[in-house]
Amino acid sequence: MIKNCLFPVAGYGTRFLPATKAMPKEILPVVNKPLVQYGVEEAVAAGMHNIGFVTGRGKRAIEDHFDISYELEHQIQGSGKEDLLTSIRHLIENNQFSFTRQREMKGLGHAILTGRNLVGENPFGVVLADDLCVVDPGEDEVMTQMAKLYNQFRCSIVAIQEVPPEETNKYGVIAGECMKEGLYRITDMVEKPDPKDAPSNLAIIGRYILTPDIFDIIENTPPGKNGEVQITDALMTQARNGCVLAYKFKGKRFDCGSIDGFVEATNHVYENIYKKS
Ligand code: UTP
Repeated sequence: MIKNCLFPVAGYGTRFLPATKAMPKEILPVVNKPLVQYGVEEAVAAGMHNIGFVTGRGKRAIEDHFDISYELEHQIQGSGKEDLLTSIRHLIENNQFSFTRQREMKGLGHAILTGRNLVGENPFGVVLADDLCVVDPGEDEVMTQMAKLYNQFRCSIVAIQEVPPEETNKYGVIAGECMKEGLYRITDMVEKPDPKDAPSNLAIIGRYILTPDIFDIIENTPPGKNGEVQITDALMTQARNGCVLAYKFKGKRFDCGSIDGFVEATNHVYENIYKKS
């Protein structure tokens, strides 16, 4: 059973400026809930009760969100509005939250390495909260689907989806041997390739399960594309040494790091989740 999940949230969210000038993008609400809370609920549903955030400067609001607000609680006690805090209260009471800071933005691989002391030498999930994933009613959440696969294969797993070929330069893209429907053993991985150089149109999205040997690998991974320590480079080493799986998850993913994706997610959640709750 995987108990730990890392949330790298140190990025600046420049695509959302000026909204993100003084507020983390992870706190932007999709309808009435901050983006990051959707990701945390997904991790918790997969049994990951130790949630570790890799934060940066200007991200205090995330810490405050996962803490009790005494004044507010006191103020609305006994009123009809108390119900609105039920979901976050439940999360706070039943899970552990810890925080560490990535002092310099040196890439996702570096952010994950910075979280090493939060997860220890155990397998762990990674959620990039700007990818909001939803599933059909009755289906397992994406992280749960991946945790079940991990229990079977015991190696690192990345979530993938098919993207239009002209968009490969926004993602890490894999090549792999198909093991069974929707599951590939990775043979190659390229960070943000031009469409003409992309090994496929299977793109990595912001859900990972990683085995702890990844930390030593990241330590020995030099900066790659854009001068950043790329998790894809470290995963490629892990794939060469053993096995990394790519899993085409069941569900839908919204890129809430972009304005279009954020608006689509908002409409989807409003129509399909909020109005039906
Ligand atoms: P992105 O590059 O998509 O996010 O990183 P960003 O930098 O926040 O957004 P823009 O491009 O400026 O709008 C993907 C994820 O990795 C985290 C980010 O917080 C985001 O969740 N990340 C990235 C880190 O935590 N540290 C890094 O050094 C890089």
